[in-house]
Formats: sequence, C-alpha cells, structure tokens
Amino acid sequence: MSQEDASLEARLEEQETFEPPESFVEQANVSDPGIYEEFEENWPESWERAAEFLDWDEPYDEVLDESEAPTYQWFTGGELNASYNCLDRHVENGAKNRAAIKWEGELGETRTYTYGDLLNEVNEFAAALRDLGVEEDDVVTMYMPMVPELPIAMLACARIGAPHSVVFAGFSADALATRMNDADSEYLITCDGYYRRGDALDHISKTNEGLEDVEHETETVVVDRLGDDLDHSLSESQHDYDELVEAHAGETVEPVSRDAEDMLFLMYTSGTTGKPKGVKHTTGGYLSYVTWTSHSVLDLEPEDTYWCSADIGWITGHSYILYGPLALGTTTVMYEGTPDYPDKDRFWEIVEKNRVDVFYTAPTAIRAFMKWGKEYPERHDLSSLRLLGTVGEPINPRAWKWYYKHIGGEECPIVDTWWQTETGGHMITTLPGINEMKPGSAGPGLPGIDVRIVDGAGEEVDAGEAGYLTVQKPWPGMLRTLYRNDERFVSEYWEEYSDPEADEWVYFPEDGAKIDDDGYITVLGRVDDVLNVSGHRLGTMEIESAVVGVEGIAEAAVVGGDHEVKGEAVYVYAIPEDGYGDQEDELEERAIESVEDSIGPIARPEEVVFTPELPKTRSGKIMRRLLEDIASGNELGNTSTLRNPDIVDQIADQVEND
Ligand code: WTA
Repeated sequence: MSQEDASLEARLEEQETFEPPESFVEQANVSDPGIYEEFEENWPESWERAAEFLDWDEPYDEVLDESEAPTYQWFTGGELNASYNCLDRHVENGAKNRAAIKWEGELGETRTYTYGDLLNEVNEFAAALRDLGVEEDDVVTMYMPMVPELPIAMLACARIGAPHSVVFAGFSADALATRMNDADSEYLITCDGYYRRGDALDHISKTNEGLEDVEHETETVVVDRLGDDLDHSLSESQHDYDELVEAHAGETVEPVSRDAEDMLFLMYTSGTTGKPKGVKHTTGGYLSYVTWTSHSVLDLEPEDTYWCSADIGWITGHSYILYGPLALGTTTVMYEGTPDYPDKDRFWEIVEKNRVDVFYTAPTAIRAFMKWGKEYPERHDLSSLRLLGTVGEPINPRAWKWYYKHIGGEECPIVDTWWQTETGGHMITTLPGINEMKPGSAGPGLPGIDVRIVDGAGEEVDAGEAGYLTVQKPWPGMLRTLYRNDERFVSEYWEEYSDPEADEWVYFPEDGAKIDDDGYITVLGRVDDVLNVSGHRLGTMEIESAVVGVEGIAEAAVVGGDHEVKGEAVYVYAIPEDGYGDQEDELEERAIESVEDSIGPIARPEEVVFTPELPKTRSGKIMRRLLEDIASGNELGNTSTLRNPDIVDQIADQVEND
C-alpha cells in the first residue's frame, strides 16, 4: 500500500459521519428535510403521497381505517391491479421499448425483456393459468430459482388476482410441502433445474418429492431451464411452460380490479415456533409502500438501471427486484448465479456491463468481497454507480467503509435499510439526499414511521441504552395478518407492548436496538429464537426439531454463533441417546442431513457438538445465551445459577478442540 493510500485508509477508519455527496443531493428524488415534519403534521393523509405513485381503477375513500386494529386497512374502497401498474401503464405511456428486466444467466447468456415483451408474456401466461383453472383468490405457489419466468409468473398471478406464494428454491422438499399444505395451494410453478457454479442442479426431483407430501391434487407448470442437460419426464398433471405460453400466443387478459385490501401475495417466514408464518400482503398498501420507498430511499428513476442481488424467493426480491422498481418503470437487473462464478469479480462485471446506477446487496456479501480483496472491483469501471444499499442484517462499520470506498469510490451514499418480511418495505434508513450517514447505524425512522426504543415495560430508554425496537403507528406496507391465523398475528407482533383496552397498538418486530441523540437507530439483532444466517431468517426451533428427529439423538439445542462472513452461523449442541455415545461421526452426519432435508442447505449446521448434558437453569431451562457465547468464542459470564455449571467448561473445551 502506498503512503497516500495508507493515510486515506486511516482517515476513513476514524471518520464517524459522512455527508451525502453534493452531486447526489442535487439530483435526489427527495432532498427537502421538511418531509419529516410534513408527514407528521398531516398523518395519516400524508400517506396519499405513496398512493399517488399508482394508477387506481377506483379511487379510495379513506386513507386509513383503524376500526379493526391491529388489522389496519389502507386506502379502503380503492381498486387497482398490480400487474397493470407494473406493466400496462408504462407501455401506454410510451415505454414499450424500455428494458424492464435484464437477466444475466450464470453461464453468461443474457435475456432482455422490454416492458412490451414482458407485458406480452405476462398476458400469455395469465391466459394459460386461467385455462388451467386458476381463479381469483386461488393461491399459486412458485418454487423457482432466479429465472425470468419467476417474475413473469408472479405478475401473471397478480393480473388475474391470484395471490402468489413464492418458496425459495434452496428450501427443501419438506419445506415446499408444508407451505403448499398450509395455504391449500393447488397450483405450482417450478423449474426442471438450474445452474450453480456451472453444474446443472436437478430441481424437479426435489419438487416431485415435495408434491408427494402435498395433501391435495395439484396442477404443476415446469419451466425448462436445463434443456438437454437434465433428463426428466412430466406426469399428467405437469405442463411444460413454453408449450403453455405458445398455445396462448398473442392472447391478452384484462387485469382484474382488486380491492386495495385484497391479498397480493403470501410469504412464509420463520418465527419462534417450528411452524413458518404465512405473512399476508395486500394490493393497495403494499404496492404503494414499496413504490414510494423505491422512489425515496433507492432514488429510482425510470431511466435507471438498478440491481438488487437478492433472490426473489425472499421479501427483498419481491419488494425491490420486482414490484417497487417495475411500478416506477425502472430497468431491473436479475442475476441467476453466485458472486464468485466464473470468478470473484462477477458482480462488478455485471455492474460495468449494464452501467448499473443503483446497487442493493447484503452485508454478508460485502464481507465476502472484503475477504476476496479490492483487486476484484478494481478490475472494473464502476463509475456508473450513484447509490448503494444494504439490507438483511446489521452492517459493521468496517464493511460499510469498504463498500463506500471500493465500490462507491467515495461518491455514492449508502442506505442501510432496516425492515422485515412483515413490514413489506424499508422502515429505518437515512434518506440518501438528506441525512448524513453513520456507518453501523441504519438511521432514523422514515418519514411517517414512528419507531421508538423501549425497555421491557414499554418505557422509552435513554439515548445509548439497549432496548427493544417498536413501531408505534401503522404504515401502508404492513402485514395484515398471518394467513388463517389471526390469533397468532396478534400474539406474535402486538401483544407485547399494546394496550388493547385503550385501543393502543404497538408493533413489536422482535429486534433489539439503541438510539443516539440524533435519533439514529443501531439495530442489535433478533431478541427471539430466530437466527440471521447470511441475511436469511431461520428459526432455531425448526432446526432443533430436525435434529431431535434423528435416531440416536436424545436432546438438542440450536443457537447462533458469530461468523466472519455469514454474520451468524448455526451451532448444534446435542445429547446422544444411551448406547450411541461412540457413534458421534455418524450422528453428526445424520443430523446435518436431517436439517438439510427439512429446511434446506442454507440451514446446514456449522458444527454439531456432542455433550452428555446441556447447561440448564435450576428450573430446567436450557441456557442458550451461554451456548451462544461458547459458539462465538466470547468470554463466559456467571454460570453459578446453573444446575450443572461444570458442563459449561467441558463443552467449551470441546468446541475449542474441534
Ligand atoms: C434483520 C429482510 C440490521 C432484522 C428484509 C430483521 C436488519 C430481520 C437489517 C428481517 C438492517 C434486516 N440492519 N438488521 N439493515 N435489515 N435486518 O424478514 O433482525 O428476512 O428483523 O427481512 O433481518 O428479516 P427478513
């Protein structure tokens, strides 16, 4: 490193606040700091601003109906169609030939869909779905990797008013079946397979395995991604995507007017108990919210080329690859593969080639890039970038600064966006044309978003003190309920801090956080039994029940431990059954296999530690915090309240020796 470089590096390391670059501010979509006050004074009517981004078939009567709180209703009486808002209106307004999706296949092939092309294929596939029997309000499941047919299928469903439920392709057959059964979903759109690091992966066998456990008949559509690279045959109830689309070539389907409160989609996510929760999002509130935040936070313009590197199988992909960017008429990039194939500069090659203006990724990816070294981004011209974003987990200041310097060239603001599957869109972040940035702290609540940090009794804590994150006013993008489980919706999110008798409702996202004197919030992580592995949400209880299901394992505890790249990794502590003590290697293998079968490879344990006992309190509760500290290599606190304090040292020794 040259002397000049070294002193730059040192300056950056010490710098705690960063002003948005003047060149950015000048062109920002939102640059008037008065917006915070405006939202507050005029609340909830201020939210009309979000709804105005959309074309409504029927205007709404009321912005917010609180009568059924905490099931709030937004833009009531309004009617609209999401696919119309993402496609038709842009074509009608002269953007027919603008690129809507630029797809980059892992093997180097590309496909560009203009708004005109996309509208045509969505129409054809919507006609095909109708022909298969899909009716308004039927839940259609998608179990697909990052191929263009996934967003096409989602928009086709939105067009005919059939809510979609996308299951991440990396999830297991079991996970697919659980979700299809829970939603009574009789239609599935899947793929024969996909490429990972150049290898053809079979996806259809996994799909078929899952379908065996689905309790009702299903019609399945299969996209042919692998061609001759995979031999497979389709059963009677399985249809080839291309044939269906061809059979409906040139057909159009009138977009169905949906009530603002009608379900747009379901998205299953992990919670405290073993059973995933079906988060319900609506057409009017959700679409308004993601479009507004894509405009104000991601600063997107129709002329932009924008790339979010998430998978559409997660909420980030729904809100910020598909719905928000397309509702604004932006060009959205979609990449099929991994960041290190064929080499570790793949992302930067994609940015350079497509002249990407705005790039949005996860801290776990940034930590991997850092580890690989700055020479990879340095191979490419990244000067097209204007704004960078992160999502999914806290970003440590070192990773933030690396991203700022080596990807943004110190000329792009970074938005560190805190939000959840349940919130639909961004909640806490700086507005890039207004606020200064503080690495490691996401920023203030967005205009109209009332976030407060409270103690266990619900009282606001002082600046600098750790507490619980709460949201004290509703917002349009919020989940409406958990599918067919209103009771769990209330108990999971509202019971903790609300006062139902006074009709005062406080949303609890189950994250810990602290706030500074400027109102900037640093999110500290989950306070429930949910892990965040590489930005993916996994329930410890789901993993635990997979491990305990293994023959020869009597009891298990699953916790998260710090991990340099993944942020958190899965650690399993297990007690072998009598007589299995000498079979630890096989037990470990079976435990890992069982986790991959019931959830998927993303939940694969980093380590399985066998122990004769688990550390327990006198009342018999497993001391997870201690196990977390052991996994993270932290100093261990007081163990004297344990029923079996000796076991702690024993386990710690074992982890160190492994
Ligand atoms: C965590 C992903 C810190 C948080 C959009 C939240 C974050 C969970 C951030 C939701 C961030 C997300 N800083 N933590 N910028 N963004 N999280 O539902 O713990 O997959 O509760 O939604 O991720 O994960 P989910």
